[in-house]
Amino acid sequence: MQDMTDFINQVKRANDIVDVIGNSLELRRSGANFVARCPFHGERTPSFHVNRNKQIFKCFGCGEAGDVIGFVQKYESCSFMEALEILAKRAGLKMPENISDEDHSQEKKKRRDRLLSVLRETAVFYWRMFYSSVGANARRYMENRGFSAETLKTFGVGYSPDYNSLPDYLTKKGFTYREMADSGVVQQRQDGSCFDALAGRLIVPIFNINNQVIAFGGRSLEKNPQFGKYKNTSDTEVFSKKNNLFAINNAKKVKQTSGLQYLVMVEGYMDVLAMWQAGFTSVVASMGTSLTEQQAKLLSRLTDRAYICYDGDSAGQKATVRGLDIFAKEGLEVRVMSIPENLDPDEYIGKYGKESFAQLLDKALPLADYKLKLLEQEFDIKNTNAVTRNDAISRYVKGALKVLSEMDDAQQQQYVKTVSVKSGFSEDYLKRKLAAHMRGEPVVVQQPVDTEMKALQFIASCMLCNQPYAKVKVPQCDDAFLSGVFRYIEGLKGADAFADMVYTVCPDATAQQYDSVLSHEFSKENYQKDKQYFAECMSLVKEHRLKQRRSELLEQLKTADEIASESLLEEIQKINKQING
Ligand code: GTP
Ligand code: MN
Repeated sequence: MQDMTDFINQVKRANDIVDVIGNSLELRRSGANFVARCPFHGERTPSFHVNRNKQIFKCFGCGEAGDVIGFVQKYESCSFMEALEILAKRAGLKMPENISDEDHSQEKKKRRDRLLSVLRETAVFYWRMFYSSVGANARRYMENRGFSAETLKTFGVGYSPDYNSLPDYLTKKGFTYREMADSGVVQQRQDGSCFDALAGRLIVPIFNINNQVIAFGGRSLEKNPQFGKYKNTSDTEVFSKKNNLFAINNAKKVKQTSGLQYLVMVEGYMDVLAMWQAGFTSVVASMGTSLTEQQAKLLSRLTDRAYICYDGDSAGQKATVRGLDIFAKEGLEVRVMSIPENLDPDEYIGKYGKESFAQLLDKALPLADYKLKLLEQEFDIKNTNAVTRNDAISRYVKGALKVLSEMDDAQQQQYVKTVSVKSGFSEDYLKRKLAAHMRGEPVVVQQPVDTEMKALQFIASCMLCNQPYAKVKVPQCDDAFLSGVFRYIEGLKGADAFADMVYTVCPDATAQQYDSVLSHEFSKENYQKDKQYFAECMSLVKEHRLKQRRSELLEQLKTADEIASESLLEEIQKINKQING
């Protein structure tokens, strides 16, 4: 048994770092070193250095550094073992059996290679058919859709003429029916004969991240397809639909040549082709499945920011959110793009052009904002009927608290502000509710009813105009604007207020809100009446507070154990007394 460290050193000795990197980058000699433009970050002037004596590379622009294995790992976006294997192969060394993992056992590897050969030959066959006379229809179809010769070539678009030509071709190339069926390109009949799985379809080859063909997508060219618009070759030993992303090989190439700031995830093959042609080359597609952890892992090998561009219907949205959470869990920064009019990227670019599409990319929402926006759409928080609106706002806030509870502290601070503006609840109130939610307590969210709002507004008016009877402790309040006013008054510690300060202390309020605390005219004649009304307002607010607290306690009582119930009941009774007294 060979020692792992020995083998690694052997591979490193056999692969000079300057030769290896020189195969991928244009190296220029500079003193004792070689320099190039760094493949790991976009740059014009070379700051990527390779040192032959030390057998290391270092980029002084982005800080990336390492040995020859590290370079391959980073450049090919692969694991240490995969990089080791690539370099071993390059130097003609055999990976020792004991250190290569199960997937690489020689038998299995041979079989995989065989299936990959079938797939590669099949791609060549389809490609030739597309450009031959039988492919005229398919070519015209793609031309009519606006795809250029270059795009078709880049993606290796092909055509399957009929049921038998492919199996015949592959037979001549020395493959068995069994091998063809195992690679997914043909289906076998009862009698053992086979037929092209994608007969008569336009072909889009699917590559893995190492640029090997692993499957095909076939689009029907008929207007009224009897067999479904798309059909894929089946899942095999080398292909699993839910673990792969269409065009991931292109994304890797883009990363190697010009760097990847982000990747856009779309739904369709044609969307990828259309975006690519319009210059948006950082794009991949899922293949008609919901997003998986494997896909997220694959994506995160290439980038740390993903834009998701999915269908706009509401069932689609819910599914999108689930998929997005999977992506966020892999550490990807997720943004959600919305395309108007239910168009897909291909249709949108065709109708409005690429500049307009670039604007949609710019306007993509961070995941948290997207979730809050969905909640806002789900509940009608701007309804003109106060009761309906209050109810909607409560539901919105409850949903928002759940979204907020998944964030880190800094984000929570930021998004509490957003939710405060949308709901009208004060930030303090929302923070208290959020804390309760995160402790796992049931949370009741109640908007002050209109009479209470009126009372609070009158109390604020009296305090702002320094009425002697109003020199008392400010009431508790959940409304964002009014609690801002009360905070100002509280800060004065009994000194006189300046009513106009409301514009300064609550700079974001509406004219209506300012009006609600500034428009009341205080006069000598009405002094007694105002004083009386102020007292009534104070007790109304206090009573409402108590009732709100009571309903919270009652809610908690539903899930409390025996001991907790007792103290809850005690507090409820105390509140009852206060309300009645
Ligand atoms: P075009 O109509 O050619 O523009 O297709 P598209 O690329 O816009 O794809 P679409 O949005 O209709 O579907 C998205 C993806 O779902 C496709 O690229 C396929 O991977 C998959 N898909 C769509 N229809 C079918 C189908 O009938 N069968 C299967 N197996 N997959 C499908
Ligand atoms: Mn489409």
